[in-house]
Amino acid sequence: MNVHESEKLAGILAAKGYAECGCEDDADVIVFNTCCIRDTAERRALGNIGVIKAVKKRNPNLVVAVVGCMPQQDGAAENIRQRYPYVDIVLGTRNISMLAEEIDKVLISRTGVKKRSDKKYRCFDRTLPEDYLTIDENTPALRTSFPNAWINIIYGCNNFCSYCIVPYVRGRELSRDMNAVLDEVKRCVDGGYKEITLLGQNVNSYGNDLKSDVNFARLLHEIDKIEGKFRVRFMTSHPKDLTEEVMDEMAASSKICSNLHLPMQAGSDKVLSDMNRRYDRQRYLSLIDGLRRRMPDIGITTDIMVGFPTETEADFEDTLDIVRRVRFSNAFTFIYSPRKGTPAAEMEQIPYAVKQERISGLIALQNSITKEISDTYTGGVYEVLCEDVAPKSENKVCGRTESGRLVTFDGAEADIGKFFNVRITQSRSASLFGRKEGEIL
Ligand code: 5AD
Ligand code: SF4
Repeated sequence: MNVHESEKLAGILAAKGYAECGCEDDADVIVFNTCCIRDTAERRALGNIGVIKAVKKRNPNLVVAVVGCMPQQDGAAENIRQRYPYVDIVLGTRNISMLAEEIDKVLISRTGVKKRSDKKYRCFDRTLPEDYLTIDENTPALRTSFPNAWINIIYGCNNFCSYCIVPYVRGRELSRDMNAVLDEVKRCVDGGYKEITLLGQNVNSYGNDLKSDVNFARLLHEIDKIEGKFRVRFMTSHPKDLTEEVMDEMAASSKICSNLHLPMQAGSDKVLSDMNRRYDRQRYLSLIDGLRRRMPDIGITTDIMVGFPTETEADFEDTLDIVRRVRFSNAFTFIYSPRKGTPAAEMEQIPYAVKQERISGLIALQNSITKEISDTYTGGVYEVLCEDVAPKSENKVCGRTESGRLVTFDGAEADIGKFFNVRITQSRSASLFGRKEGEIL
């Protein structure tokens, strides 16, 4: 989501005639697109903004903007205004399209400063009211991840999981018009993109707020009808909202990958309830059964959090137990980080050392499962979309199987955007290595 929003910011800048430059000292404008989902993300953003002070000193003409989730939190814009006086523009999540005009205002105010008493223009229009319900369809994204194209289908979140800041900083759910989404998919496919990832905090809510009777399954169905060879993935799905209809669409489609990211968060019913997730472990396990019954080779990934305030050792054991049962192909694991303004931040917290110990145990377990699953790929032939040249190795490229596994194989830059049959020759924890057996046209 954030990568794609940065692509939109880059699009706004490109439309104004700006081009990407190699280092911050060459820049006329620097935009920080921030995240505040965990304390580490926020601290990293603030640290990076702090570093720019020296750059601004060397180049007083520089325009510095801070945008996205972080300034949308209560009091955060004021904090930035005071701590970083060299920041010129602060915009929230729903008004990033104002970036172009705000840059103009800053530049005009600088040329117009005559008296010392005249204040330079600084924009701190961080928030828009929660009912600011419009979608900007005109901001052109400057896509940076060919052959993958990210496409927003729904913004915001209505779920209010008790640990999560997202509903507060991104507002309520707002779906894009289905035809606008379909047009964007077609444009990307016509432009040669081979993998479309549909984005939303909860893609399964797609359409709930629209007047028409479209839903996520219908959207998938319509996308599947678009001509051309391309793949479709989507994220994120909420287990309480994933329907049989969506699973049926996935299974019936030749374009939607057998791959699903289904955040579980915890394996204990008590913790899931305290998290306000509105499903229990039984529901989660039955979804996994439903998916595997329809798509035996499906790659399922998840998000898991440890150290939620009410998590006991026994609750954590329940998480390990469900991880053993499900056998995720990969898991993103997080230490719970209290977010000011959320209900869980008000609860009594558990010591950091306990959280650290739990996450180490969880990572060790998942690594062993990831490795075992990787081993089952060895010897087989899989369709792989070549997505990039492999980092740090010459004449190698990388891409993913339909199930989402990363494969490194022989190839060159010209292979990017092509599909190949690749025989897996070796596996190493989460990574697979293989040999091309021919292009799939
Ligand atoms: N602390 C730690 N992890 C969090 N996530 C969301 N909020 C928090 C938090 N306060 C994790 C969840 C979510 C992923 C995107 O980030 O696991 O699925
Ligand atoms: Fe946060 Fe829950 Fe919404 Fe996901 S579904 S963005 S975890 S509140």
